[in-house]
Amino acid sequence: MPIEQRERTLVLIKPDGIQRSLIGEIIRRYEQTGLKLVGLKFLIPSEKTVKEHYLSNEGWLKSVGEKSMAAYEKKCLKSPYQDPVKCGEDVLGRLIKYLTSGPMVVMVWQGNEAVGVIRKISGGTEPLTSDVGTIRGDLTIDSYALGDTDERAVRNLIHASGSVGEAEKEIKIWFQDEEILKYRLVQESILYDVNLDGILE
Ligand code: CDP
Ligand code: MG
Repeated sequence: MPIEQRERTLVLIKPDGIQRSLIGEIIRRYEQTGLKLVGLKFLIPSEKTVKEHYLSNEGWLKSVGEKSMAAYEKKCLKSPYQDPVKCGEDVLGRLIKYLTSGPMVVMVWQGNEAVGVIRKISGGTEPLTSDVGTIRGDLTIDSYALGDTDERAVRNLIHASGSVGEAEKEIKIWFQDEEILKYRLVQESILYDVNLDGILE
């Protein structure tokens, strides 16, 4: 298989996505792109797995804090945090509560630029400011301010890997190699084949 068809990304439909009955709608949006579903599970994660998932990306604690503080600044508001790492640590604690609160759908999607395509459709972290047309922008309403006021995680329906490197590490946490299926989808010929010479009779 050519290299561009092999890129993989991890998606979690978080517990709020399940409780809002959005499993079908979310999968539909990803499926319509032409990407291929190669791994699928329904589970309640352990605290250990959630921790491992977020801490697998070096620097995540600091960057999540910096991003959250910058979002306040952009709206001319004051973040309740001064230190990005402290903010990141609190976010991790809240994420553990959030993601272990109920079942989640865990998926691996594969295809050309899978990481970027899935992030684009998922939308930015904060639903309040995610673009219209994205899953987070269209299907929910949470904000950093509301999450921080109530000392809970921002409920934004999904997780999607942020880079190819992140995806590789994250997929290993949730899936064994043999749980990722290798198969052909008929639509791949229209997406990727150089010649379209099998259509006309
Ligand atoms: O999920 P995404 O990659 O867009 O964002 P992140 O910066 O990697 O943060 C991971 C998750 O932490 C988010 O999806 C939110 O659910 C949560 N979060 C939060 O609860 N409060 C914040 N201030 C920032 C993030
Ligand atoms: Mg992230």
